[in-house]
Amino acid sequence: MALKPAAVAPTSSELEIEAARLADKGLAGLGYRDEELERAARLTWRINRLKKEQRAVIPAHVYQRPEILLGVADLVGDSYRLAKLCADADAKSIIFCGVRFMAETAKILSPDKEVLLPAPEAGCSLSESISAADVRALKKKHPGAPVAVYINTTAAVKAECDVVVTSANAPKILRKLFAEHEQVIFAPDAMMGKNLAKELGKKLGEELIIWEGTCIVHNNFDATSVEFYRKMYPGVKILAHFECTPALTSVVDYIGGTGDMMKWVADHKSSSYMLITECGLGDLARTKFPDKVFVPMCRLCPHMKSVTLERVLSALESPSAAQRIDVPAAVAARALRPIQRMFELSEDKASS
Ligand code: 13P
Ligand code: SF4
Repeated sequence: MALKPAAVAPTSSELEIEAARLADKGLAGLGYRDEELERAARLTWRINRLKKEQRAVIPAHVYQRPEILLGVADLVGDSYRLAKLCADADAKSIIFCGVRFMAETAKILSPDKEVLLPAPEAGCSLSESISAADVRALKKKHPGAPVAVYINTTAAVKAECDVVVTSANAPKILRKLFAEHEQVIFAPDAMMGKNLAKELGKKLGEELIIWEGTCIVHNNFDATSVEFYRKMYPGVKILAHFECTPALTSVVDYIGGTGDMMKWVADHKSSSYMLITECGLGDLARTKFPDKVFVPMCRLCPHMKSVTLERVLSALESPSAAQRIDVPAAVAARALRPIQRMFELSEDKASS
């Protein structure tokens, strides 16, 4: 009797080749031992096989585990890049290695594809900090002010706003909104809101109205240790994510989203860097820039790290109801407009 494809396991030589491929991709350089490479290879071999059979695509956010980013992902990037790439992907299904708001955005942009989230409980403290009713109340309190919401929000929240933004385009889009309005609402990340107010020269609470959400990862870095690290690693270039506190972003060399942080590293010739964000970015940077030194100062996001190879395999072999992403059609239709508006404004070359 023929075996079901899912039950097929690699031969020992296939396993050896797969483990060597993972080592070469960068896992060896990150310190994966032989037994860890073999364990990962057993799973990546099956995932990559099923992915092809099912015409599935695997997007992965840069905070995902290295064995996911380097072993099975087809698309890797920040929130903006993944939203764009998923919309254009030629596939029957999307196995989203990231958190719920990202998978929901993929579903809104690709309603005909099946979207699966391997770790269905993977949320985000920002997304959980604000509801659609909260946005409606903000609009009532500040009539006429356009509402820009961070992509780290539920579909229901996006449905209430005028434009979605990510860390890759928030300053550009808010500048455009301020060109036409005296007051703009930005939610839910208070730290990013404060950083934006400073960058755009706008008064908090008067010109820029913010919400009190925070990221459990980025809100907890200690700004005072930056001085210590500068003394310990002379010449180190320190980069911080937009979601970090203003106390921290005011003492670093560069503030941006994950995509722009990677670009900044690529464009600079310093010998050492510190990426103050989730640890996944530093791991990826070590594999992309093996000649540069990355001083560790990072924290793990429990939501992002709840995605494992085992769970990716389960989504391909026997997806559970909880792993299937479903956005009610009426909400999806209303949330699509501000996402498309983001694409238009973000890619508008007329101004930046
Ligand atoms: P980026 O869009 O910069 O990758 O950020 C996503 C995120 O969740 C940051 O915590
Ligand atoms: Fe959300 Fe912060 Fe995790 Fe990003 S790092 S997914 S903002 S909790």
